[in-house]
Amino acid sequence: MTDMQMQGAATDIPPFAIVPLSPVAGAEITGLDLSVPLTPPLCDAVMDAFVRHHVLVFRNQDLDKDRQYDFTLNFGEIEEHVGRLGSGEKYPLVHTVTNRDEVTGRPTATPRTHGNYFWHTDKSYHAVPSLLTMLHAVELPPSGGDTLFANMHMAWDALSGSEQRELEGLRAVHSWEASRRNTGNVPATEQQKRERPPVSHPLVRTHPVTGRRSLYLGMHVSHVEGMEPDASRELLARLLEAATVDEHVYRHAWRPGDLVMWDNRCLLHRADRNYDMATHARVLHRTVVKGTVPV
Ligand code: OGA
Ligand code: MN
Repeated sequence: MTDMQMQGAATDIPPFAIVPLSPVAGAEITGLDLSVPLTPPLCDAVMDAFVRHHVLVFRNQDLDKDRQYDFTLNFGEIEEHVGRLGSGEKYPLVHTVTNRDEVTGRPTATPRTHGNYFWHTDKSYHAVPSLLTMLHAVELPPSGGDTLFANMHMAWDALSGSEQRELEGLRAVHSWEASRRNTGNVPATEQQKRERPPVSHPLVRTHPVTGRRSLYLGMHVSHVEGMEPDASRELLARLLEAATVDEHVYRHAWRPGDLVMWDNRCLLHRADRNYDMATHARVLHRTVVKGTVPV
C-alpha cells in the first residue's frame, strides 16, 4: 500500500472535520472512510481529537470484522477476551456484544453477558487495563439501546478539596470475580479466577497524555484497600452516584453504521436498557486496545 492509496495522503482534500456533540464528551468525525487505511499523520490527528473529546463517533461506516480489526490496530495492541467462549473461537479479537440468545438466536432481556449495562471501564480487572474500546453498530433496536459515557475528569473536578484529599493515595482492588458478583452475572469459575487474579489500581488516576486527574472505579471494583467492607461499599456507592450524574454524561443514541471509540482512562460507560430487549436485537462488534498501568 503506497501513501497515494491511503486517506490522508498529501493529495487528499482536507480529510476530516471535528463536530463536538456535547460539552461533556463526544465529537463526530466527518469525512473518513474507516475501511480505507489511514496514513500515520492522519491516525495521529484522530488520536489528538480522541484525547480532546474522549468519545469519537464516525457515521455510516461499512466495516466487516477484518476492516474493524485493521482500523483498531492503528492505535495499539488489540486485547484478547478471555471468558467470551460463546462465539466458538476461544479468544476472538473482534467479538460481538449482543442481546441475542446464544442458543435460539432470538433477542432476550437476559443475555448471557449483561455486564455492559452497568457503569464500568473496560478491563480494569487487568493489571494493564484498556486504553480504548470501539463498537460498530451492526443491528440496532428501532430506538433506544443508547450507550452512556460519564466523564471522570468532571467527576473528580466536582469534588471538594477535602473530598479530593481524602481520596488521594487510596487504591481499589478490581477483579473479574467481583465484577461478576456486582452485576449478578454467572459467578466466575475457578479457572477464570486463576486467569484473572485481583489487581489494585489508584482510585484517582492521571491521564497519561493530558496529565488530568480522574476517578477510576466502576463495577469491576471489589473494595478500597485497607478499608472496612461497609465503609468501602458506602464510599464506592457514593462516589459512583456522584460521578455519573446527568451533568457528567454524554448519551450516545446509535445510528446504523456508527463506529464509536472511547477513552477508558477517563470515562465510565454503560449500555441503557431503554429498549424492549426481549423483542429487538442490539448487536455491535467490539475491539479493545490495551493501555498502560494506571498511575
Ligand atoms: C463494551 C460495553 C456498552 C454497550 O462493549 O465494553 O460496555 O453499549 N458496551 O453495549
Ligand atoms: Mn464496556
